[in-house]
Amino acid sequence: MNVAEHPKAEFVAGLRAAINDGTFVKLSLGKFRGEGEPRKAVATLVMIKDKPQLKLVTSFPRKDDTKTFPIERGVESIARSIGAEFMSATLFTSARDLRLDYSRKGIPHLASGKPTMAASAPKSHDRQKSYLVAPDRPYLKALDVTDRDGRIKPTMQGKYKQICRFIEIAADLIPEGDFEKDRPLTVVDIGSGKGYLTFAFYDYVTTVLNRSCQITGIEVRGELVKLCNDLARDLNFKGLTFVADEAARASSEAMDIVIALHACDTATDDAMAFGIQAGARLILSAPCCQHELAPQIHDTQNGLRGLIKYPLLKQRQADLVTDAARALLLEVSGYKVRLIEFVSTEHTSKNILIAATKSATVDRSAARQQFQELQETIGFSKQHLASQLKAAE
Ligand SMILES: C[S@@+](CC[C@H](N)C(=O)[O-])C[C@H]1O[C@@H](n2cnc3c(N)ncnc32)[C@H](O)[C@@H]1O
Repeated sequence: MNVAEHPKAEFVAGLRAAINDGTFVKLSLGKFRGEGEPRKAVATLVMIKDKPQLKLVTSFPRKDDTKTFPIERGVESIARSIGAEFMSATLFTSARDLRLDYSRKGIPHLASGKPTMAASAPKSHDRQKSYLVAPDRPYLKALDVTDRDGRIKPTMQGKYKQICRFIEIAADLIPEGDFEKDRPLTVVDIGSGKGYLTFAFYDYVTTVLNRSCQITGIEVRGELVKLCNDLARDLNFKGLTFVADEAARASSEAMDIVIALHACDTATDDAMAFGIQAGARLILSAPCCQHELAPQIHDTQNGLRGLIKYPLLKQRQADLVTDAARALLLEVSGYKVRLIEFVSTEHTSKNILIAATKSATVDRSAARQQFQELQETIGFSKQHLASQLKAAE
């Protein structure tokens, strides 16, 4: 490490040079000594409308604040904050790391060392993803996800991430449905709750995909149904309606897409059975609490005693087996199934999303065989989706 004579000026010159010669990876700011909540910040390059910009993400204890700047304005803003708010700054380039630290007495010290990160091209998809669910969409404000200024409320960060992730997954899978373009897309959301994902899905389909759609949210709680219908009317979301009903009673007229996100317990099975019978080409379901299998799991002489004697592990085992059983039954019904991590476990432990797309090439008899083996090994006799499908035969 070498000590510099004009540390801050040299650091900022190093930042400019790295951006210009393409070696810049990222810059981090720490040791916050300014006013207000503690924070740290990271700057990276992103492409916006084919132009590189500096994206600065400032992390507060309960939220992140993201700003993008034209390069020079971003460099100037970072330069102003170094030594005033942030007492430590590290520049990561593919050629070297450069670190500027201020002592307690405010004396800067610059040190350079070997690079710890490789250079990466500016990420254009950053913008693409946030663009799928832009925070300024009016429905987000109406649902109290954002505040008056269009900022995500600190308590709603998790929900916003969940909405973004759901739309990202849906955006990847909808093309596989190969839905006819000349008619409205028909969608049912079972256990729609306060409608966060239903409104997001409607908004995505109508504004990003630019397609018309008929979406019905089914929810047992009448007060939520009223709230959502009022909101859909206020937002002029034509074709979005909510119905107070039980998942199991949903009529299975033909449907393109069925969604069920964290619909409680066997309501997830009802939603899947509904989707299969309605001939849905895409079923997106994130299971919630599961109570059906755990009481049935017993020692089948298959070496599970050491696992199921601990109630917590027995429940986890039951959760996994329930999801596997559902996935296999969807395959038996002619769906290609993918299990996807939905959101970080930091927000909910119920973070698996079962994505099923109708396919003619699934080995349905292999899936049937695997379901039977699972049933025999784990020792359960009743599973709600299996019963629903049998009843419909
Ligand atoms: C955890 S919330 C999820 C809401 C919404 N899908 C979301 O992800 O934001 C589950 C919702 O499912 C509803 N629900 C539970 N069982 C149901 C059933 N059998 N039929 C219809 N709705 C049900 C609950 O009332 C609740 O509002």
